Amino acid sequence: MSDNQKTATLSLPNNESLQLPVYEGTYGAPVIDIGDLNKSSVFTFDPGFRSTASCRSDITFIDGSNGILLHRGYPIEQLAESSEYLEVCYLLLNGELPNETQKQNFYDEVTHHTLVHEQLINFFNGFPRNAHPMAIMCGVVGALSAFYHDTLDIQNDEHRTNSALRLIAKMPTLAAMCYKYSVGHPFIYPRNDMSYAENFLNMMFSLPTFDYEPNPVLTQTMDKIFILHADHEQNASTSTVRLAGSSGANPFACIASGIAALWGPAHGGANEAVIHMLEAIEHPKNIPAFLKRAKDKDDPFRLMGFGHRVYKNFDPRAKIMRKSCHDVLQAVGVNDQLFDIALQLEDIALKDSYFLDRKLYPNVDFYSGIIMKAIGIPTNMFSVIFALSRTVGWVAHWNEMIGTPGQSISRPRQLYTGAAKRDFVPLNQR
Ligand code: SDX
Repeated sequence: MSDNQKTATLSLPNNESLQLPVYEGTYGAPVIDIGDLNKSSVFTFDPGFRSTASCRSDITFIDGSNGILLHRGYPIEQLAESSEYLEVCYLLLNGELPNETQKQNFYDEVTHHTLVHEQLINFFNGFPRNAHPMAIMCGVVGALSAFYHDTLDIQNDEHRTNSALRLIAKMPTLAAMCYKYSVGHPFIYPRNDMSYAENFLNMMFSLPTFDYEPNPVLTQTMDKIFILHADHEQNASTSTVRLAGSSGANPFACIASGIAALWGPAHGGANEAVIHMLEAIEHPKNIPAFLKRAKDKDDPFRLMGFGHRVYKNFDPRAKIMRKSCHDVLQAVGVNDQLFDIALQLEDIALKDSYFLDRKLYPNVDFYSGIIMKAIGIPTNMFSVIFALSRTVGWVAHWNEMIGTPGQSISRPRQLYTGAAKRDFVPLNQR
C-alpha cells in the first residue's frame, strides 16, 4: 500500500487490527476495500447490499439525497430534453456523445440489426396466448444465443460490440412480437425508414390492413421513456447481469437474467403494479384507506411507485415523467382519472409524516405507467418496455465488467446458521 493511500482501521474480535485501503471516486461516498478480509478470520455481512459497492464504474452516478442522475457525467434532465435514446445508447456504451458521423454510423448499425431470425417465430408459438410477455422475453432473449454462435467469444471486442448492437436493435422487435402474439395479430416487421421509437410503435400498432400513423408527440414521449429507463447504476437487474456475466456466460443469457430480475414488483414490475394500485383505489376518496394499509406493518401492501433504495429525495426521472404525463394526456385528449388519482395520492402522501420520515418519494415507475397507458400500451407490457430501455444499461455494465482487468467470478460468502455437524439417522430410527 502506498504511503499516501488513505486507510480505515478495522479492529477484529480476535484483537487483530487491519489497515484497509479507502478509495474515493469522482462523486459519492468513499469505499473501504475489504478484498483482503478473506485472509483474516471474518467476512462482512450486508444482506441486500445496502452498504456495499460491488464494482468501480464510469457509466452512471446517482446522488440519492439530492435527486441527481448523471450518465457519463451528463444530467438526465438535459439528456431527456435534448437527446434521443440511440444517442444516449452510444454515450452509455462509448463514454462520449457521438459526433455527426459517429451518430449516423451507430444509427445505421442498429437499424440493420432489427430483424430477428424467422425461426424465432416458432418459439412464440409454444407459449399460451395469455402468457405474461416478460415470460416470453426471458425465453426468446436467452434463445438469441442459439442463433449467434459466430459472435459469442466474450474476450473478443468485436464480438462484444456486435452482441451489444444486436441486443439494442432486436429488443423492440421482440417486445412488439410479444404484444402482437398476445392479441393474435400478425407480427409486423421492422422498417429501416423509421426512427427507433417510431419503429417500435409501428411494430406494436400497425396492421397489414392499414398503416399506423405514429403521433409525433407519442413517438417523442416513447423515446423519452426509453431514455429515462436506460440505466441506473447497480440496481438489482444490472447487478444480476454483472453476476451472470462474471461466470463468462454469453451476453444474451446475461440479458435474459436481467429481464428475469427486473420482472419483480419491487423493481421493474412496479410500473404495472402502480396501475393496478390506482385502479384499485378507483376514486380519490379511497386514498386514505390505501395509505393506512401502506403504513401497516402487518399488511404486505406497499405504495407502488413510491420509495427507492437510493433516492431519499424525488427521483429526477419521476419529475420529468410527471410533466410528460400531462403533455401526453393533453395530446391524446384523454382525461385519465388514474392521473388525477396519482396527482392527489402524491400530494397527500408527501404531507404524511410516515412517508416524509422515511424519505419515500415517487420514483420512475409512479407516472410511467399512466403515460404508457395513454400511448395505448397494455399494462402487462410496461415491464417489457422497461427491459427494452434498460438493455443498453445492462450491456454497457456487462461490457465494462468484461473489459475490467483481473475480473473474476463473483461469489459472495455467507453467515451459516444451520445445523451443527451430525451423523446420518437410518429411516427406522427417525
Ligand atoms: C425501480 O435500484 C434501482 O435503481 C431501481 C430502479 C432502476 O431504475 O433500476 O430505480 C427502478 O425498481 C424503482 C423502485 C420501484 N419499486 C416500487 O415502486 C415498489 C414500492 N417500493 C418499495 O418496494 C421500496 O421502496 C423499494 C423496494 C423500492 C426500496 O426498498 P428498500 O430500500 O428496501 O426500502 P426499505 O424496505 O428499507 O424501506 C424503509 C422503510 C420501511 O419501513 P420501516 O421498516 O422503516 O418502518 O420504508 C417503508 C418500509 O416498510 N417503505 C414503504 C415503501 N417503501 C419503503 N412503505 C410503504 N410503501 C412503500 N412503497
